[in-house]
Amino acid sequence: MPCNDYEKSIELINEFFDIELSENFGEEVFKVLNKIIPLASGYIFFTDPVRLEYSYNKRTSDINSITQPFLQEDLKLKNTTFGKIIITGSDFSAEDKKIFKTCASVIANITKDREISEIIKMQINALQEGYQKTQKNNKKILKAEKIKTKFLSHISHELRTPLNSIIGFSDLLENEFAGTLNAKQKNYVNDIKISSLHLLGMINEILDMSKIEAGVLTLSLRDFEIRQAVQEVINVINPLIIKKNIELETKIENFTIKADYQKFQQILFNLLSNAIKYTSENGNIKIEALKGKNSAIISVIDNGIGIDKKNHKKIFRKFEQIGESSVNSTGLGLSITKELVKLHKGKVTLKSSPGSGSEFKVIIPLE
Ligand SMILES: Nc1ncnc2c1ncn2[C@@H]1O[C@H](COP(=O)(O)OP(=O)(O)O)[C@@H](O)[C@H]1O
Ligand SMILES: [Mg+2]
Repeated sequence: MPCNDYEKSIELINEFFDIELSENFGEEVFKVLNKIIPLASGYIFFTDPVRLEYSYNKRTSDINSITQPFLQEDLKLKNTTFGKIIITGSDFSAEDKKIFKTCASVIANITKDREISEIIKMQINALQEGYQKTQKNNKKILKAEKIKTKFLSHISHELRTPLNSIIGFSDLLENEFAGTLNAKQKNYVNDIKISSLHLLGMINEILDMSKIEAGVLTLSLRDFEIRQAVQEVINVINPLIIKKNIELETKIENFTIKADYQKFQQILFNLLSNAIKYTSENGNIKIEALKGKNSAIISVIDNGIGIDKKNHKKIFRKFEQIGESSVNSTGLGLSITKELVKLHKGKVTLKSSPGSGSEFKVIIPLE
């Protein structure tokens, strides 16, 4: 005896959701929806226009407050509309939406033929499984990320302290506070300083990146003179400039900026150390700090190896390096620089092509 539409629908729903659906489908569809709801984070309503009005997720109980539902389907059985499923809210993930749409069409079309329903059933199962797996994995990844960030920030901090003392004492030696040095000794002390600077730069990059990832990097703003901030960075990095016999030209207008002093210097340090690193011996580097109409424009220009246009975006991403990664490189400098500039509501631009040097420009709004 062939089943009629109604019996077939009930049978299908029972199979889909592993529940017993009786003739009282208002209540039963409610149960079906209840199976879907744990997957969602937004609002779901099911209304029975004749008798009932349900609300879910306890976000709101007023169906009239729904202004722009992203999904609205009539619930039909044997071509008779007996309810509506309305899903609203803005905090759904793409994954949520996919699941809802599939579920809603399953429920809304329970009278359609069995083959289609079978396909939908498979889709729904796959979606549910995928969703649960993703959630589990996300949790694991988040936990691992947290441990990694904490570890990196701890270890970088611990490494920085002795390193600062190495740099400080080599400064004292170099400046002959502890007695005169012969040429060879001076050379050695300079080497110690250069290696320590490289190491400090890398540790700072890892520490900064772990702070950015943990979302704890904040600005401490104050007014300061551009010229002094730039000059201090040049002083720190000078041993590297001397070592490569690079000619440094500066054009620094003096004006005041409100920014985070240490982070401003970090931005310049990153760009300048790149310019030195990717420029050959006897090359030229120019630092400009100009006052624009409403912004400070800091440029670091070199005549080094240059960067192909196709890599201009890539190098601002974490760990991305062009060509063979060199020693003293983490591949983090530019992505940190970009974040630090962004925190100041500014932007970094790049003009460069292979063989004709690079120009990195940082634009930070004044106020
Ligand atoms: N001034 C520059 N000239 C040429 N290439 C550069 C310059 N600055 C950055 N790059 C390229 O961008 C990549 C990413 O830079 P960065 O994030 O600072 O990492 P790192 O300096 O540790 O390699 C570098 O590895 C290099 O390939
Ligand atoms: Mg770098």
